Amino acid sequence: MTFEISRRSILQGAVALGAIGYAGQVRADGAQQVAVTAQKNDQASQSMTSYIGTPTSRIDGRAKVTGTAKYAADFNTPGLAFGSVVQSAIAKGRIARIDTQDALRVTGVLAVLTHDNRPPMGDTPAAFKDDVAPEGAPFRPLYDDSILFNGQPIALVLAETWEAARFAASLVRVDYEQEAHVTDLYAARDSSFVIEKPDKPRGNAARAFAAADIRHEAEYYIPMEHHNPMELFASTVLWEGGDKLAVYDKTQGVQNVQRYLCSVFGMKPDDVRVLSPFVGGAFGAGLRPQYQVVLAVLGARALERSVRLVLTRPQMYGLGYRPGTIERLAIGANAGGTLDAITHEAIAMTSQYEAFARNDTSWSALLYKCANATYVHRLARLDFPTAGDMRAPGAATGVYALECAMDEVAVALKLDPLELRLRCYSDRDQNEDKPYTSKALRECYQQGAAAFGWDKRNPEPRSMREGGDLVGWGMASGVWEALQVEFAARIVLTANGHAEVSCATSDIGTGTYTIMAQVTADMLGLPLDSITVKLGDSSLPHSPVEGGSWTAASVSHAIANTADALRKELLRLAKAMPGSPLAAAAPEEVALEGGKIVSKKDSGRAVSIADAMRRAGLDRIEHVGKTDFKAHGDHAHNTHSAIFAEVKVDEQLGVIRVTRVVSAVAAGRILNTKTAASQVMGSVVGGIGMALHEETVADHGFGRIMNANIAEYHIPVNADVHDIKVIFVDEPDALINPLGIKGVGEIGIVGVAAAVANAVYHATGKRVRDLPITLDKLLA
Ligand code: MOS
Repeated sequence: MTFEISRRSILQGAVALGAIGYAGQVRADGAQQVAVTAQKNDQASQSMTSYIGTPTSRIDGRAKVTGTAKYAADFNTPGLAFGSVVQSAIAKGRIARIDTQDALRVTGVLAVLTHDNRPPMGDTPAAFKDDVAPEGAPFRPLYDDSILFNGQPIALVLAETWEAARFAASLVRVDYEQEAHVTDLYAARDSSFVIEKPDKPRGNAARAFAAADIRHEAEYYIPMEHHNPMELFASTVLWEGGDKLAVYDKTQGVQNVQRYLCSVFGMKPDDVRVLSPFVGGAFGAGLRPQYQVVLAVLGARALERSVRLVLTRPQMYGLGYRPGTIERLAIGANAGGTLDAITHEAIAMTSQYEAFARNDTSWSALLYKCANATYVHRLARLDFPTAGDMRAPGAATGVYALECAMDEVAVALKLDPLELRLRCYSDRDQNEDKPYTSKALRECYQQGAAAFGWDKRNPEPRSMREGGDLVGWGMASGVWEALQVEFAARIVLTANGHAEVSCATSDIGTGTYTIMAQVTADMLGLPLDSITVKLGDSSLPHSPVEGGSWTAASVSHAIANTADALRKELLRLAKAMPGSPLAAAAPEEVALEGGKIVSKKDSGRAVSIADAMRRAGLDRIEHVGKTDFKAHGDHAHNTHSAIFAEVKVDEQLGVIRVTRVVSAVAAGRILNTKTAASQVMGSVVGGIGMALHEETVADHGFGRIMNANIAEYHIPVNADVHDIKVIFVDEPDALINPLGIKGVGEIGIVGVAAAVANAVYHATGKRVRDLPITLDKLLA
């Protein structure tokens, strides 16, 4: 199935949206919980036999485009106070003195909290560990006088209005005792260290490299990159009296935040409810609880009233980031186009207090047939906050380096880069020497190349021109994990044929509301508009953080198991009816279809669900079920992609445009081809940003980020996005889980920056290995 996006199709899409009015009805349920139901006029709810696999519009789409979807900073309550954060102006040292007198004199200011006067919170670093915290001692905001990074929160001003709080924050005076800091990765690389379990070398890569016909060795660099979701990190804490709080938080994991707040403040789980019905983008930034939620709760406890704290865009640059990473690749190849040796060594940034690590290098040893491979991921400590996850952490960066190096090997071999990938194609996981549950990367190469027109490529750099532009075509492979983790779901079925499905998971914009409705509708044999979805509430059934592209496969499996239990109960009720046509039916012999319990052998034997429930005197049936994934330890489970990119480079000015991208993805069964394609398109745009735009720049003299705003931190804008075509190749997978789902999202960014960089080389004959590829580097 293929999707294309271009600026023209975006405009057409906008017109269609207005004309048809896609579904999605959101109502506040009581004071707090949000429920989303597909509307009758959704084009996908017209008598379909299966919603899984159909391109279904988001059921929360209307709520989002009409502004009725509420985000963490949108919830109001009487007596709300507003916070504003004061940040450290030095990178390392201690606070000698904080003078809050001028701030306190501002009309409307209620309090200024610092490490000196804040309410109590956890005394140990362990109290601040969240579910996905890396090794080390987590940052504790306003804990003591130590300064760990420039931009660190050191005071919280609370006021009747946000304007008063923000103005007063500008009047807080701070004296520091400064110490020498290091924020330059290249200055710290010699003291880098290894924390992960020892890597798995095979053969002898050094010896094989030395003996290889073709040797390519180079260093690649990906700079520090910061998250810039549209929604700023924000928390609205509702003070409910006693010890009770409800917290609207921007997060990818409400139950993670709930556990964290209980630990930090010594509160009982029943007293803290965390809600996040809508998230305006996160991509990893919201996996860990961010410091604003601690400060907002601290403020609420200090004032004993409700508090909202929204970080400013510059303050977002004091949170986790994609670590700047130096990648060294050494690849030895045989003149026949097979690989003899791969060595991949990475050095990534982390803080002085935590060791965040996502292995960049294992992908290089995993993907291609190669008898000798060695890899090691190292960390370097800097006086920055701890690095964090950003869209395909470890792979977006590591595979960038690998796939550029592969392109350089292909050039040295005078071999088509796609042909090189095919010659070292592996049907087995090369690290673990295991087969895959499924791997349709070959089909990605074939279908992607055909859609792009790769066979018309002239291999000679600078050989393709269009007017004043040099035209370049590049390609790369992508790989990510197909992860599954424990989830639970609740389904409540009412006798009027409506079902409500719920889970604590977030929907960070990926389409989780919609796929939960689709799977529930299919499993219960109900129309999509008979399904209501609730999520993003810590009081709902278990969910870990929404990350790793694991949610779709996991929550769908939990829903399928729950629906199965419901089906069995309905059969028991149907059997109990006098003269039941299903009296002899075994559980495996019946399905739920069209509001009925139906024999799969003889569709004439059926009982209406409503009748069965009414006869039993039941208005509703409720089940909570969870995932029960079979261990597939003897199989590897990954998603793959092939990316083909076209660039046009103005020969005089060096301006680069990415005019076409084809991304062919193998990710098992695709639940919703529309939202999945949207995920991949968004990731491709992210990859274009990595290749050409994104870079956090620090002034190492001050240890301070200089471009902490979206005017100077460049991300692709509409004018940078041209044609993107997404192809999902068929990848049946009977082993991964009963529905054959692997999950998409992160796979969409992996390899994109390499495909663009390789296209730039093909256009210009110039290899720029440190990202982003800006015109000054190209013309240098
Ligand atoms: Mo993603 S980096 O797993 O939110």
